[in-house]
Amino acid sequence: MKIRKFETQEALNEAAADLISGLVLRNPAAVLGLATGSTPVGIYASLVRRYEAGLVRFKQTTTFNLDEYVGLPAGHPESYRSYMQNHLFKHVDLVPEQTFLPDGNAADLEAECRRYDELLAGAGRINLQLLGIGHNGHIGFNEPDHALLSGTHIVELKPSTREANARFFQSLDEVPTHALTMGIGSILKAESILLVVRGADKAEIVHRALTGPITTDCPASLLQTHADLHVYVDSEAGRLL
Ligand code: GLP
Repeated sequence: MKIRKFETQEALNEAAADLISGLVLRNPAAVLGLATGSTPVGIYASLVRRYEAGLVRFKQTTTFNLDEYVGLPAGHPESYRSYMQNHLFKHVDLVPEQTFLPDGNAADLEAECRRYDELLAGAGRINLQLLGIGHNGHIGFNEPDHALLSGTHIVELKPSTREANARFFQSLDEVPTHALTMGIGSILKAESILLVVRGADKAEIVHRALTGPITTDCPASLLQTHADLHVYVDSEAGRLL
């Protein structure tokens, strides 16, 4: 595990964008695993700037997102498809047919999970998986539980997760109760993983995830088993590391 601490958000964003764009420059047909939430926003902005400056192209790149809410109407501003559209996809030359997210409006959600796993298998290995972490140690929407699932599955969101994400909605009632998420097995299969953590409120959970016991009570702790884990933290989140 390689941990890097950054004094400014800008330095962290640039370093993360260096890792991603460096990979795409070496391998234009790379498969990227992407994340949502507030953590990666500045990283996507940096990638867009690099694209606009002609420093990187994504035409041959494929992306798979970790997760999507169940039941938000198509085009809802808080769907993860909309988030990706607004922060990255519409600004760069990614081919829409090569940007994948689970469909949280599929009529048969179980079938949708199997379809997503087949797409992932068909794409080969994710070369770099970008991850944030939830306050309870979730990655994607793999919530703490007595057991974790390997493949894509439907999850009931924990009340604390819905409360944490309520800031993006008008009210808590509007936050979906369920989501589809890539499983822990799919995340750990990635060739490299970049976990990004910001803010004092994440200091304890990232410390527990990276130095505590490996347990399904803290899904991010399973990242300790990964052979090529990069952890980028700001000085507040990295206070205990
Ligand atoms: C969200 C997402 C995760 C994300 C995490 C932290 O609910 N499903 O992929 O990493 O929670 O979000 P944030 O970066 O906004 O703190």
